[in-house]
Parts: sequence; structure tokens; C-alpha cells
Amino acid sequence: MQTLRVETGQSPYNIYLGSGIIQQPAFWSTLNLAPRGLLISNPVVAQHYQLPVQAGLGQKQNTVAHLVPDGESFKSLSEAEKIWRLLAQEKFTRDSQLIALGGGVIGDLTGFAAANFMRGIDFIGIPTTLLAMVDSSVGGKTGINLPQGKNLVGAFWQPGAVIMDVDVLRTLPDREYRSGLAEVIKYGAIGDKAFLQWLDLQRDHVIARETDILLELIARCVKHKAAIVERDPRESGERALLNFGHTFGHAIETLTHYTTYLHGEAVAIGMVLAARFSVFSGSLETSAADQLADLLTSYGLPVELPSSLLAMDMLVAMRGDKKNTAQQMRLILLQSLGHAVIQQVGEESILKFLQSVQRC
Ligand SMILES: NC(=O)c1ccc[n+]([C@@H]2O[C@H](COP(=O)([O-])OP(=O)(O)OC[C@H]3O[C@@H](n4cnc5c(N)ncnc54)[C@H](O)[C@@H]3O)[C@@H](O)[C@H]2O)c1
Repeated sequence: MQTLRVETGQSPYNIYLGSGIIQQPAFWSTLNLAPRGLLISNPVVAQHYQLPVQAGLGQKQNTVAHLVPDGESFKSLSEAEKIWRLLAQEKFTRDSQLIALGGGVIGDLTGFAAANFMRGIDFIGIPTTLLAMVDSSVGGKTGINLPQGKNLVGAFWQPGAVIMDVDVLRTLPDREYRSGLAEVIKYGAIGDKAFLQWLDLQRDHVIARETDILLELIARCVKHKAAIVERDPRESGERALLNFGHTFGHAIETLTHYTTYLHGEAVAIGMVLAARFSVFSGSLETSAADQLADLLTSYGLPVELPSSLLAMDMLVAMRGDKKNTAQQMRLILLQSLGHAVIQQVGEESILKFLQSVQRC
């Protein structure tokens, strides 16, 4: 097992990364557990992993479980309220712990509930999707959706510990796994060209979810994310690089009503659009954008903007991005593969670019 440390100001924490660790009583006995805990999961994940996790926690903790229905629409205020009411009803105190067992939806909801119950209690993340391991469980962003938009209410709240057992990825559906790989490729595109070459060489092993390969892949991504959030915990600068492909991607998700693409799939298309826009504005070689598109395609991810999405609609949807100012958008562009920059871009130039993509 590897222990990766995330140094986030006043509340540093460990990430435990290994294979089969949640099944090992000895692993749980080393953890710092509160006397009482509420384990939050959903029925899909719970059927596979609730028993071993609850047994492990139970060595040192009085743990009860609460299941939230599966799906993004349950990352909601009403589900957070149910958790708070349950905690209050069962007389959980400030020294209790929440434990998030699931993908990014369960992680974001549980972290948000923990951040606000009694002005903040501890929580432990046990991410069970590749996306949650390499992205959402690291960095302390928690939150819920409103009918008006995703992640509109939230808090920065760091976990006490994160437990990543790569064996749980065996039950993850193939499409969810590939969607997580888009975020993996993102780390290479923005800051690690050698990682992109590794992903190209190890493709068959990555797709086969081989244990050693997963351990290396996840450790590399976690180290990248941890280094960025340690330097910029509240996204006042460099952390925005992690949004590479996301402004285009969010627009695609919005315009297709979150029904056509998984998040990682929309981000894959978004990254290729951001790379092609970098070529359009003269900062990147065409061959580099092609290379990124080829790598994503080889991992079974989509890279083309659907022809049904009109340039003007894309631009308007991109404006909805929280990070923009009037007439200008902050985009993450590439100067080369492995080197991203944050840039203010005029809307007119984005529109021209999107129109040119549609004509192709
Ligand atoms: N906080 C952050 O920094 C951050 C970053 C990126 C994404 N997010 C959020 O993460 C969410 C998406 O997370 P996600 O992609 O993990 O989706 P998810 O949590 O909805 O999980 C995807 C699906 O896989 C199932 N599943 C999870 N683990 C499984 C396993 N081991 N075996 C079988 N099935 C399993 C889930 O039940 C679900 O049906 C979004 O809400 C997004 O906003 C947050």
C-alpha cells in the first residue's frame, strides 16, 4: 500500500492507495476513526462493498449506514437535508465522522453534508469510480446541484483521509471507466507529456485494468492534482488548469441535457476543442492537437463536436461557466502537449472557431 500525503494548509491528510485493502482488518485498525460514523453510499455500490467496509470500520467504530438513490439528480439539497436530519435524530455529535463510499456523486454530497453539520465534522472518502479516485476525492471541493445548475452550492472541506482500493474498479461499468480515463489523459495534456507517452504505450494494460498499472496510473494523477491544489487550494490561479476541456465540455453537457454524454466523454470532446482552438489562435502545432485526439480515440472516447450543436448555442452555454467575465472567457489552452496556460479569450474569436469546426 502507498500512502500519499496531501498538504492542504491546516488540514493535511493521507490517501491510502492499494489493492484489496478494504478487505484487510489490519488496514482498518491503523486508521484514525471517530467513535461514531455514518456511512453514506448508494444501492449499486453498497451491494458490492458495504459489508467489508462496515466490518472494517466496525472494529473501532459504531457505524450505521444510509443509502442515497443512485444518480446525479440525488446530489441535491433534499438528500443533504435527509443526512443532517438523520444525524440530528440519532444524536451524532461534533466528533462523529461521515464516510463516503461511492463515486463523485456520493463523495460530493457526503463532503457537503460533513462540511455543514454542526459547522463541520470529519469525513472519510472511499472513492469507487476512476473519476472519483483521480479527481473528485482529492482537493476538498464538495457540493450539490440546484435545478438552475450543477455544483452551484458547495464548500471547500478537506477529508480526514481517503481510501483508494483499486480492486473496487473491477465492478465499474466499462463506459464509466473510460469516462474516468478522460480526466486521466487531462493530467498528461496539461502538465506531463511523458505520462501521455506512458498512456499510449500501456493502453492494453490500462484498458484491462491490471492492478499494477492502475496503482501507477492513479498515483501519478493524485500526485498531479495534490501538487496543484496544495499550491492553489481555493482556485485563485493555477488550479483552473484542471478545467482544461471543461468549459467546452460543460456546454456540450448542458446542450445535450446531460443525457447523451457522461462527464468524461464531454470533457474528451472539450479537450480536443480546446486543443484545436489553441491551434486556431496560433499557440499549438496541429500535430499536437491530432496526437491528443488520437490518444482519446484509442481509449474509446468521443472527440468530435456533434453536428447538431450550433456554434452560437455553444457560445451562450459556455458563457454560463462560473469563471467568465463579460465579452471575455477564461479558457485553458495548450502551448504544447504537457504545457497548459490560462488565457482570457474574446468571445468573437471563440465563435469564429466554433463556426469553422462546424464547416469541417
Ligand atoms: N469535487 C470535485 O472536485 C469533482 C471533480 C469532478 C467531478 N465531480 C463530480 O463527480 C460526479 C461524477 O462522479 P462519477 O463519475 O464518479 O459518477 P457517479 O458517482 O454517478 O458514479 C457513476 C456510476 O457508477 C456507479 N458506481 C460507482 N462505483 C462503482 C463500482 N465500483 N462498481 C460499480 N458501479 C459503481 C454509480 O452507482 C453510478 O451509477 C459529478 O457530480 C461531478 O460534478 C466532482
